[in-house]
Amino acid sequence: MRSILEAPAPIEKPISRAPAGRTPLLAFVGDADTERSLRDCCEHLGIADATITRGGIAQAIDALSTQRSPELLIVDISGVALPVSDINNLAEVCEPGVIVIAIGDRNEVGLYRDLMHSGVSDYIVKPLTAQLLASALQGHRGTGWSGAIQRKLATCVAVVGARGGVGATTLSVNLAWYLAERQNRRVALIDLDLHNGECTLALNIKPTPGLREALVNPARIDNILLERVMAPVGQRLFVLSAEEPLRDSIEFSAEAVETLIGVLRQQFHYVVLDVPRNPGAAYLRALELADFRIIVVDQTLRSARDAVRLRSALGEAGGKHHTLFVLNREGEGGRHAITLDEMQRILDLRPKAVIPFHPAWFAAALGSGEILAAARRGKFSDVIAGLALELSGRAPQPRRWWQRAR
Ligand SMILES: Nc1ncnc2c1ncn2[C@@H]1O[C@H](COP(=O)(O)OP(=O)(O)OP(=O)(O)O)[C@@H](O)[C@H]1O
Ligand SMILES: [Mg+2]
Repeated sequence: MRSILEAPAPIEKPISRAPAGRTPLLAFVGDADTERSLRDCCEHLGIADATITRGGIAQAIDALSTQRSPELLIVDISGVALPVSDINNLAEVCEPGVIVIAIGDRNEVGLYRDLMHSGVSDYIVKPLTAQLLASALQGHRGTGWSGAIQRKLATCVAVVGARGGVGATTLSVNLAWYLAERQNRRVALIDLDLHNGECTLALNIKPTPGLREALVNPARIDNILLERVMAPVGQRLFVLSAEEPLRDSIEFSAEAVETLIGVLRQQFHYVVLDVPRNPGAAYLRALELADFRIIVVDQTLRSARDAVRLRSALGEAGGKHHTLFVLNREGEGGRHAITLDEMQRILDLRPKAVIPFHPAWFAAALGSGEILAAARRGKFSDVIAGLALELSGRAPQPRRWWQRAR
């Protein structure tokens, strides 16, 4: 690891093209001198689209909570009392793959080590020079940089029904929407049932034929293909959901699903998968890869039994994966209904959330694209908020006065 006390490397021009939709460089600097030096550095290094703003780490956290992360983030930590803790907060809001360079006024080896440990790519002590910046960039790009922010990958959440019609799609769509709109995360929602396009129906958007192409030819899956085919809903939710002809038998492999999830994980905070209840290898792989599996059950013996079978088929891989049960359509009744206590006994676990059977809510939303979780208050929104909290460990964010009401 290069010491900050070492002589800088010769100037080279390391900046390449930023991925579509991301600014190549965003900087928050605390004083006029650093701002001037940084502008000179950028000119010297041929970085054309740099956005340089006056501010510090608090402004960086604020900005990246609501906008896309740049490829390279430079943040001034001069005068900050707890820089490492602030960097950890910054890592929370950064997208995976961001390179963060901190600049500051404390020339301490201990601070440098702690910042590197927190995922910062480099720490430059002021005064900033083009040479220092170039060497900071050169040392870490394309050479197996191992910072925590770079390594951070999306949390993958797979939702599956213990049996048909229990509400797995309803839950996937609302959860994905909530994470994107209420928690300001970038979310990919993938509907792995390629024939029925249920997610497009729920969100009232057009199907994405590119999903079939991607899964059938996984060698072609890359960011560019996905950016082209994903359907945006608002600013942060991107959907892949197809409605292929029912006559077509579409086969895709477990490896194809793995490739798709792998690529999406580098671009999003969350990948939410609506997984059909089907014993095929590709669907099982999706469930195996997920950090969280949400098994939706209704209040029937069959559903409880199938949920237990599914959980034991998946295993927990030594606690690396979490399986949550959500009981939907509670109180629906019917001949095969069992009590909540019986349900809990069979599952050997309390359902993480219970959603009442309430046809009127869903009848209004059907086909209109109305998102039930968007309601500010109500049992359903509360359940979705609780699940989102479980996945993220984040408290709901208070809305800021300047954010538009939706
Ligand atoms: N709590 C509820 N109360 C009343 N209706 C509900 C409830 N939850 C979901 N529904 C309705 O039940 C139907 C089935 O829901 P959904 O499509 O989400 O289930 P699914 O498990 O994805 O089904 P599939 O097995 O077809 O994939 C939908 O019409 C939905 O609006
Ligand atoms: Mg479904």
